[in-house]
Amino acid sequence: MCPEMSTPALRYQSGFGNQFSSEALPGALPEGQNSPQKVPYGLYAEQFSGTAFTVARSEARRTWLYRIRPSALHPRFERLGRQLCGGPLGEVTPNRLRWNPLPLPSGTVDFLDGWVAMAANAAADKPAGVSLYTYAANASMQRVFYNADGELLLVPEHGRLRIATELGTLELGPLEIAVLPRGLKFRVQLLDATARGYIAENHGAPLRLPDLGPIGSNGLANPRDFRSPVACYEEQPMPTQLVQKFLGELWGCQLQHSPLDVVAWHGNNVPYTYDLRRFNTLGTVSFDHPDPSIFTVLTSPTSVHGLANLDFVIFPPRWMVAENTFRPPWFHRNLMNEFMGLIQGNYDAKAEGFVPGGASLHSCMSAHGPDASTCAQAIAAELAPAKIDNTMAFMFETSQVLRPTRHALDCPQLQTDYDACWASLPSTFNPNRRYP
Ligand SMILES: [Fe+2]
Repeated sequence: MCPEMSTPALRYQSGFGNQFSSEALPGALPEGQNSPQKVPYGLYAEQFSGTAFTVARSEARRTWLYRIRPSALHPRFERLGRQLCGGPLGEVTPNRLRWNPLPLPSGTVDFLDGWVAMAANAAADKPAGVSLYTYAANASMQRVFYNADGELLLVPEHGRLRIATELGTLELGPLEIAVLPRGLKFRVQLLDATARGYIAENHGAPLRLPDLGPIGSNGLANPRDFRSPVACYEEQPMPTQLVQKFLGELWGCQLQHSPLDVVAWHGNNVPYTYDLRRFNTLGTVSFDHPDPSIFTVLTSPTSVHGLANLDFVIFPPRWMVAENTFRPPWFHRNLMNEFMGLIQGNYDAKAEGFVPGGASLHSCMSAHGPDASTCAQAIAAELAPAKIDNTMAFMFETSQVLRPTRHALDCPQLQTDYDACWASLPSTFNPNRRYP
């Protein structure tokens, strides 16, 4: 009973305190209460909480599900013998790291088998932190998965995905993102022969829109552009393996039914998609350029105001008009830790070496910025309004130091000569000539 899968029926509203509802059968949502003695159509009521019960109302995330069978109906989970991030942390290194894209898989690899852990900064049982992955797949999932360890932010770089979730179906491709709440059950179908992209697993506060401060009430990612699914359910008997990730390890059990059997729901703990091309990019119209926080799409805050557990930041197509300004991202050393990826085109700080599907890691206080040739061009350029086009880089930025996994440090995609892109930066200092 799924309606047209690609139809967005709901628009996300600001503040994330708003409540949404959807029903696949008329009148399936109980009226006036959450858990009546007799639920319409003989359904079971189940609460799905994404935050502690007693957080501030503005922070609370929960959804009421009305489903054919309660989630409690499952046998014992058994270990599947696979460890992903969220378990032991990886190696410590202050070095700048960059990777070529991981190859597309051979053999049969579904979305879940295709996860490759790249870095993490906290074990999954901690109340904050992130684990970062790439994925590459060539087969649709036949099983259903949920992640007990955190919320998932999916950033496809190649190949479209259809994600059947408990709350309905999402579709997305490159230049779009999806956010799946912690614990939400889902199955990923590939709509193209292969798929590849990036995943941020957020162990901390759920992602939300950043505050806008003096920017005002419009701009950056606008609330009306976020989409959530409509309710649909799978009713037929269908043996299904249910897999969960719990503290970094995969566990599985066998069901005789589909766990995607929610007929109606209401609440705000919901999956959603966002098209990055809708981002209302803001920047300077005079000189210099703002900090990259001006490009924040979503943020997971910590208890320290302004210090993010995870910022998702993009570098989209935009006009560069700054006068008398070094226009590429400047040289910098930051408190925050930056894991970058590229979805399409080129990134304006690098002439080569950073390609779609690749990644880089610049940790706390590691010095970086434009490579030598980009720097030389930027200093010599005749400045005029110019459009940076056909590009979409992004950054998972986090306040705790990321530790790359052993795989990330040993894989052949690691570029051993990354430091060389800055090695030929010349000294142009001349104490006898102040210029211009
Ligand atoms: Fe940076």
